[in-house]
Amino acid sequence: MKLWGGRFTKPTNQLVDEYTASIRFDQKLATFDIQGSLAHVSMLAKCAIITNQEAELITDGLKKVATQIECGEAELTEANEDIHMNVEKLLIDQIGSVGGKLHTGRSRNDQVALDMRLYLRDALVTIATLLLELQQALVKQAEANLDTVLPGYTHLQRAQPVLFAHHMMAYVFMFQRDLERLTDSWKRVNRSPLGAGALAGTSFPIDRSFVADQLGFDAVSENSLDAVSDRDFVIEFLADASLVIMHLSRLSEELVQWSSAEFNFIELDDAFCTGSSMMPQKKNPDVPELVRGKTGRVFGHLMGMLTTLKGLPLAYNKDMQEDKEGMFDTVETLKGALALFAPMIETMNVHKDVMYQAVVKDYSNATDLADYLVGKDIPFREAHAIVGQTVLYSIEQSKYLLDLSLAEFKRFSKAIDEDIYDVLSAKAVVNARDVTGGTAKNRVEDQIKQARQFFEDHETWLQGKITLLKKLIVT
Ligand code: ARG
Repeated sequence: MKLWGGRFTKPTNQLVDEYTASIRFDQKLATFDIQGSLAHVSMLAKCAIITNQEAELITDGLKKVATQIECGEAELTEANEDIHMNVEKLLIDQIGSVGGKLHTGRSRNDQVALDMRLYLRDALVTIATLLLELQQALVKQAEANLDTVLPGYTHLQRAQPVLFAHHMMAYVFMFQRDLERLTDSWKRVNRSPLGAGALAGTSFPIDRSFVADQLGFDAVSENSLDAVSDRDFVIEFLADASLVIMHLSRLSEELVQWSSAEFNFIELDDAFCTGSSMMPQKKNPDVPELVRGKTGRVFGHLMGMLTTLKGLPLAYNKDMQEDKEGMFDTVETLKGALALFAPMIETMNVHKDVMYQAVVKDYSNATDLADYLVGKDIPFREAHAIVGQTVLYSIEQSKYLLDLSLAEFKRFSKAIDEDIYDVLSAKAVVNARDVTGGTAKNRVEDQIKQARQFFEDHETWLQGKITLLKKLIVT
């Protein structure tokens, strides 16, 4: 007999059981479901809704169920639909009918909302930790490459030289925004919906704050209808995750390009590449390619969830069961990608010489010739035209700007003197961008300092959350 079977005259059609059950995927929530139940049951006793003795029996029983599930000994069935009813059934099997008191003053609707929030808190901490590790790997590469220049691109055409360190730091700050978004979302995730009941609250004299405190929530939700029908926090997470994987995908694209023979700017470590079953010479950047490919599923989950929620009336609707698989898959996808990216970045081999050749065998110092002329009081627009002519001439002569003699320079502007050769060197060009956020070495060093400060703040934040979550571990 089903836990809710009382008003039914026949067994459920088996296809319905299979179609509506969520146990296949929501068993991932088991430990959080039990954490929530433990807090709920101690509150029931504290408020004298059940006796202390009953609460003890239920608590012990729940802990046994947690161990059973963890060891894979528990039988989780589709007939029991979801993780909430499976746990309750296992509890009753364990301790008898007193287990039936656990669900007093509670509905699966507030219970599932609670479980989702507990799960997401845990995931946020894991993902934030991995993001920090990736940022640290990027900073290490930046520090090792404070003298490595490569062409900076716009339109994928060589534009102006930049430090490789500067390029790495660009990603550090992208991931910093991601980390800020994820940690900021904590305050919207960290509210307890428990006590909202099915939709309207409960007639039992419960203490919502007591439960919230025990579970480390900052507050309880203000409105019971909102509490059970809100999945904004899931959508917010999927949006934040979409930005993370979009950033990973952009970095992936650069790694793939840079490891091609055409660029040859980097080589990924053998341990992070794969081979071809047919072409013996191949070494493929499969990891960044696959991460780039996986952006599709994460963006898809965001669209899926927005669409599921759109048009749902208050309060809980079964549609909302669709909130889980996309969120779980997004968490696993991010975890997988981030865990690989940090060591892959750290071990990548940077071909400094190849990058340097790409800078000097090029015209990416042309802007600096124009800026030099501006320094001689020539209006920028005129200087631009002069340098355009100079570059055209150089291309025709198969020369780069630094190959031109002073006499050749003077054909285009009398204002050019011997000191132009220093001005146009790669190092000078980079260090001339001595502005906050610029690519001059001292400015990149400043960026690294700033990032390190940020890491410290976030490590403190994370430590606090890790301590909070540890206290709740059941088995
Ligand atoms: N398995 C359900 C879900 O994931 C739990 C809540 C079900 N509530 C209900 N009244 N059918 O959404």
